[in-house]
Amino acid sequence: MRVDFNVTIGMDNEIGEDYRIRMTIPTIEYLTKRGAKLILMSHLGRPKKNEEKEYKEEDKIQQYFTRIMDMETIKQFSLAPVAKRLSELIQMYNVSFIDDCIGPKVQKEIDKMNRGDILLLENLRFYSGEELNDSNFSKELATLADIYVNEAFSVSHRKHASIYGTARLFDKKLAGLNLKKELEYLSMVKDDPVKPFVLVIGGSKIKDKIGALGNLLPKVDKLLVGGAMAYTFLNANGVKTGNSPIDYDHFQWVKKALLKYNDKIVLPIDHIVTSQSFLKLKKEDSTLKEMKKKKKEGKQENANSSEFDLISSPSPSLLSSPSSSVSVNKGSIQEGLLGVDIGIETVQQYSSMISQNRNGLVVWIGPMGVFEIGLFRNGTNNIAKSMALAFWRGSKTIIGGGDTLEALKKAEVSELEVTHVSTGGSATLKFLAGDEMPGIEILNKMN
Ligand code: 3PG
Ligand code: MG
Repeated sequence: MRVDFNVTIGMDNEIGEDYRIRMTIPTIEYLTKRGAKLILMSHLGRPKKNEEKEYKEEDKIQQYFTRIMDMETIKQFSLAPVAKRLSELIQMYNVSFIDDCIGPKVQKEIDKMNRGDILLLENLRFYSGEELNDSNFSKELATLADIYVNEAFSVSHRKHASIYGTARLFDKKLAGLNLKKELEYLSMVKDDPVKPFVLVIGGSKIKDKIGALGNLLPKVDKLLVGGAMAYTFLNANGVKTGNSPIDYDHFQWVKKALLKYNDKIVLPIDHIVTSQSFLKLKKEDSTLKEMKKKKKEGKQENANSSEFDLISSPSPSLLSSPSSSVSVNKGSIQEGLLGVDIGIETVQQYSSMISQNRNGLVVWIGPMGVFEIGLFRNGTNNIAKSMALAFWRGSKTIIGGGDTLEALKKAEVSELEVTHVSTGGSATLKFLAGDEMPGIEILNKMN
């Protein structure tokens, strides 16, 4: 079974968000309870290939592709800590780990397995054959098992060996339960969205979202734009945006979208603004305090699981003081300042548009501001809370992207207060754009 256990692992081997691991448990249990010997395979991160490294000549399979030999890289990108977390999550099962993913050593370990046992293989990307969709590497993987399952929606947009080439070699290839759930919800969004349909989009990269936006804009009732990308939209609309980052590469696309969907696109009317130097200071401050906190707890830095809270929302006194480094700006943003979050009136407007969506659909992708800093988290926090309210009022709510799950946690909104949280980031956007998903298409192909 291909899973996506590409999670954040700190220097202390602690796992950050384990949502992707937890979401595979129903399929793991389904298969093991029915007597499967379950072999799990995954990638982790993007380990740098060192093609120059020598490989053992006697190892036949390595004639076709190389394996990373550098111990430091292996340690950094090993799935061993994930195996540990998985065994903690499903304690009644026998979970073991093997430090390779193909070859005789792995086969020997599989031969020892009993029905209901689980074996996690080492990082597939230690072999160049994985990302090259190498046919020999695919064959090596395929010889390990009788049935293939894809339970890795979040990497199904990649035509890699374990996703595509290997799957192709099986007569029996199946979709995991979470993959099925992802496809059901995201297909509904893409092809037949429940109405009224509100799409909330944030974050900074317009490039990654153009495909999905192009596909969904004709279908949405409202598109609420926040995050750094909102300033490109505002700027294209002729609003002065000061020193806010503008994506000139996609400026023309944004201009056209604004013209065509003028009645649907909603842009922020006010902004939390600050200076570049203050933002830099706060970013450093936040990283530093987080490191200190980890040290105090006897942990090392783990840049991606920032639980440190500076201030939970902008304090009114700070915002009203004219000499302060942070202020609310209505309309245009003056030179020297940049927008870092949606303003208070925008929050109210967006929140009511989301939470008053009864029996409809709200999809949220990407934070509203620099939410890792407490001062600039108010917008994102309130969107998360409004999403929960819409859910309780009977709407279908769907959230995508890794950052957004982090934002939910910070807002203390539970995963159970959302209809569906997608495991995918890029995969979700690609799927919504109607792009090719090799990992899914191959499941439908007969041999
Ligand atoms: C992800 O985190 O988006 C998936 O695990 C895919 O990883 P990749 O972008 O490195 O292929
Ligand atoms: Mg990605």
